[in-house]
Amino acid sequence: MILLHNRDRPSSAASWAWRRLMRFVVIFVCIAAFTALIWPTIEPQNPPMHQASNITISADVKCELDESLLLKLEIKKLADFTRREIVVDFTDEEVPMTQKLDQPLWDPSKGKGKSNDHTLMEQPQDGCSIPLPVSVKLPPKPAMADASHIDFGVATTVDRLNDSLNAFEHWAAYTRTRIFAMVEPDERIPLVQAKADAMGINLHVHVSEDDYLRRYFALVPLLEKNMRPQTKWGCIIDDDTFFLSMPALVKALGEYDHTQPMYIGGISEGVPQIGVFGVMAFGGAGVFLSRPLVSDLVTVYDECQLMNFSGDRRIAYCIYQYTQTRLTIDHRLRQLDLMVDASGFFEAGRVPPLSVHHWKSWFHADMTKLGVISSLCGDECLLRQWHFSDGFILTNGFSVIRYSQMLEPGDLTMEMTWDGHNGAGLDMYLHELGPLRPRDDDKISYLLQDSEVDEITGRVTQWYIQRDTRRGDKVLELSWQKR
Ligand SMILES: *[C@@H]1O[C@H](CO)[C@@H](O)[C@H](O)[C@H]1NC(C)=O
Ligand SMILES: *[C@@H]1O[C@H](CO)[C@@H](O)[C@H](O)[C@H]1NC(C)=O
Ligand SMILES: *[C@@H]1O[C@H](CO)[C@@H](O)[C@H](O)[C@H]1NC(C)=O
Repeated sequence: MILLHNRDRPSSAASWAWRRLMRFVVIFVCIAAFTALIWPTIEPQNPPMHQASNITISADVKCELDESLLLKLEIKKLADFTRREIVVDFTDEEVPMTQKLDQPLWDPSKGKGKSNDHTLMEQPQDGCSIPLPVSVKLPPKPAMADASHIDFGVATTVDRLNDSLNAFEHWAAYTRTRIFAMVEPDERIPLVQAKADAMGINLHVHVSEDDYLRRYFALVPLLEKNMRPQTKWGCIIDDDTFFLSMPALVKALGEYDHTQPMYIGGISEGVPQIGVFGVMAFGGAGVFLSRPLVSDLVTVYDECQLMNFSGDRRIAYCIYQYTQTRLTIDHRLRQLDLMVDASGFFEAGRVPPLSVHHWKSWFHADMTKLGVISSLCGDECLLRQWHFSDGFILTNGFSVIRYSQMLEPGDLTMEMTWDGHNGAGLDMYLHELGPLRPRDDDKISYLLQDSEVDEITGRVTQWYIQRDTRRGDKVLELSWQKR
């Protein structure tokens, strides 16, 4: 009979309702106060995220993004996405490798607190783009090189040759150079040949049953047998040797006398490696042999094929033991015996190397993707640097970084980002890479992840990413076009 009892005592029912209301108000106030207390400390670390299939996207990302793009960029958690356009003006004036720009890379209106700032609402199409394009000056795109006087030789496997074609395309396609590849017998050779033909690479595949190291030295007579009247140089490379610019290579070789026996190459950047292998042209940098030297080596081929050294060492010791020719070091030819992180080398802002190596083994930096921007501004614009007013540095095709401490103007040092071989110190790398400075552990670093050219508009897009598995990756998309 509780209902009846209550109806008999209406004042008591009213006070019960009042007490409930009061209790609700107190609880509400407590929760509100507690929430207000903890909100600011939680919010910056845990911005609300939303899920697009398996990709977590921070609420700070203010534009719609194509899921296939994020998958292609290997993003699982996205914290920021920024787009900016770069407009290129070609000029006949001298343009230094490193240029200063009087604007910041990042838009000051972007970032923390921007949601409160309604005065800057005239954003472009989407909330990720910085409206103002960056204007840069570059020298005109050089003419295609004629490299018909250089023949390359490479000993490899069919699979590795196939994988190397995209990188070979950057420097070899449509330059009239020839690449002679010595591989094991394989029924897929015609497929690889067809792929090379379609790319404009003048590839000649030869089959050998020999093991790799004998195959390597067998490239010397193969190059000799195939010489054309215009042939001046034979060059033996590894399948991961990458030339940044054929016009630059042709120009560099033009500085040497091809009518004399010449042995030109690069030595290891690490003294320990030189200790193990000797003073010789390290194969990954490319071993250049002038036509007279190739002929000399063929006359002592049998003796040298018996020598107890293999690969690039056999070439070196054959030359040293049987000829009067000695190594000419060209410091622009790079073996890159640098482990784990070679970013300091690429970000040094020095004259770009002619060749690089080990970029898909000892360290990882995709040279094929680095080279994509050449289609818009030529090989001349690879690794060029722009210093923005907010301290960020764009090294074209490689990275966007900011050092934890600004460098003095005119600083020539290279950051030693790589691991020393068996603990080798900075002094072990000075002979090739000095001046050096220690690694900057607090450097902000966005590395090139991908790059694409739009065949219709000629526009090139690069994606640089700062990886952070905990807080999410940050992406900078740079879209290049000519004025
Ligand atoms: C999401 O991840 C799960 C497990 O990791 C996988 O099985 C599934 O295929 C993924 N879904 C998509 C759309 O990628
Ligand atoms: C060569 O590589 C491509 C990918 O670039 C692949 O699709 C093709 O199957 C490969 N061919 C051979 C013969 O391995
Ligand atoms: C090569 O090494 C073998 C033993 O490994 C030795 O008997 C031979 O004399 C060496 N040959 C030369 C040319 O040094």
